[in-house]
Formats: sequence, structure tokens, C-alpha cells
Amino acid sequence: TYVVTENCIRCKYTDCVDVCPVDCFREGPNFLVIDPDECIDCTLCVAECPAEAIFAEDDVPADQQAFIALNAELSAKWTPIVERKEPPADADDWRGVKDKLKLLER
Ligand code: SF4
Ligand code: F3S
Repeated sequence: TYVVTENCIRCKYTDCVDVCPVDCFREGPNFLVIDPDECIDCTLCVAECPAEAIFAEDDVPADQQAFIALNAELSAKWTPIVERKEPPADADDWRGVKDKLKLLER
């Protein structure tokens, strides 16, 4: 499966959503996750993310490992998002900022 990691928090560009053939993105207040039970490993979303936040599960960086479980946990309670929408107005300001996990809204 593929995993959305920290750099998506408060960026939430949603370009990833438009290319997913199985609509497996789930939306929270300031972050998206991938439902690991639905992702078919097509790889298309990786190149679409301006924040480079999406990784194959086996390639998730060492300091981002918690996001594997977070994607599974949050996808069970968040709702599907199937179309791109406008990102937050300050999305570009948050791109690449470290330690955003504490800002994650559930
Ligand atoms: Fe969707 Fe493909 Fe990305 Fe999985 S790898 S989330 S199926 S676009
Ligand atoms: Fe997040 Fe990147 Fe998608 S910032 S919403 S994973 S395009």
C-alpha cells in the first residue's frame, strides 16, 4: 500500500485524489490518508503530490514510520474524497515545515 506522511499536514493540495483509480483517499480536517485496504499500488499519486508526501509502505522514511499506522487508523473513521479541491490559502507556507504531526487535527 501507499502511505501519506507528515508533509501533507496543512498542505492538503489534493492533487493526489484526482489520479487515484480506486478512490481510496480519506479526508480529515487538515490531512489526507490512504485506505490501505483499498490502495492497489498503482503509484500514480506519488508524482502528483507537490509536497512529496506519499511513499510506498516499504519506502516510508525512518522518521515517518508512525504514519503507516495513522493512515490505517484514520482511514477507518474519515470520509472518502474523490475530487480535487482548493488547498488551504497558506498551504505553500507549510510545505516542508518539520514536526507537523502535532498539528494534525482528527
Ligand atoms: Fe490510489 Fe494508486 Fe495512490 Fe494507491 S498508489 S492511493 S491506488 S493513486
Ligand atoms: Fe496531501 Fe499531497 Fe495529496 S499534500 S492531499 S498527499 S497531493
